[in-house]
Amino acid sequence: MTTQLLMFHDRPERSRTNRVLLDAVGAIQDITITDMGALYKYPNEIDVDIESARLLSADRLFLQFPIHWYSTPVLLKAWQDQVLTRMYYIDTAQGEQLNNLPFMVCATAGNFESAYTADGTNGYPLEDLLRPLQATAHRCGWIWADPFLLYRSNKMDDAELGRAAEDYARRVAQWSSVERSAPVN
Ligand SMILES: Cc1cc2nc3c(=O)[nH]c(=O)nc-3n(C[C@H](O)[C@H](O)[C@H](O)COP(=O)(O)O)c2cc1C
Repeated sequence: MTTQLLMFHDRPERSRTNRVLLDAVGAIQDITITDMGALYKYPNEIDVDIESARLLSADRLFLQFPIHWYSTPVLLKAWQDQVLTRMYYIDTAQGEQLNNLPFMVCATAGNFESAYTADGTNGYPLEDLLRPLQATAHRCGWIWADPFLLYRSNKMDDAELGRAAEDYARRVAQWSSVERSAPVN
């Protein structure tokens, strides 16, 4: 049972938070990590054949990324536009193979959780800003899990970030042990 964890960071060499989180889950059994930003410097370099095959090898899918401008990084949107369009609109037999795929997201945000409220400076909960991904999961027949959200990512010292990474590893390990149910025809 392979969990494919794809990390989308437009500048992975500048990442601190996502790098620490990624290091924390590296030792979990049956998890395969791909640093998409390191593989593809520019969104138009995404190799659709390779990425479709990677997705088809997944028993579970996990996407990890920083919030950029209340949304996902450019590279993740490009992956949706290129890989998912191929698998769900062109060669739809590929997408059908991923029916009932357990799917989870980890998003890191620089701002406080209190900013992500109706009265806060960002006006909306982070969960609401992730609805396009939830809708994508719904369209693709994937099983959405509650996301792992990390706030104040830039304001954490090493010790606090280390504790957050331990929480993250526990959550990913727990979720990874959930059985994938049989495809619905
Ligand atoms: C271009 C850009 C846009 C950002 N936009 C947001 C934002 O809309 N909301 C927020 O909470 N943090 C925002 N941030 C902060 C990032 O989410 C934060 O730097 C990231 O989670 C830290 O992870 P990293 O060390 O792996 O980059 C932004 C950062 C950058 C570089």
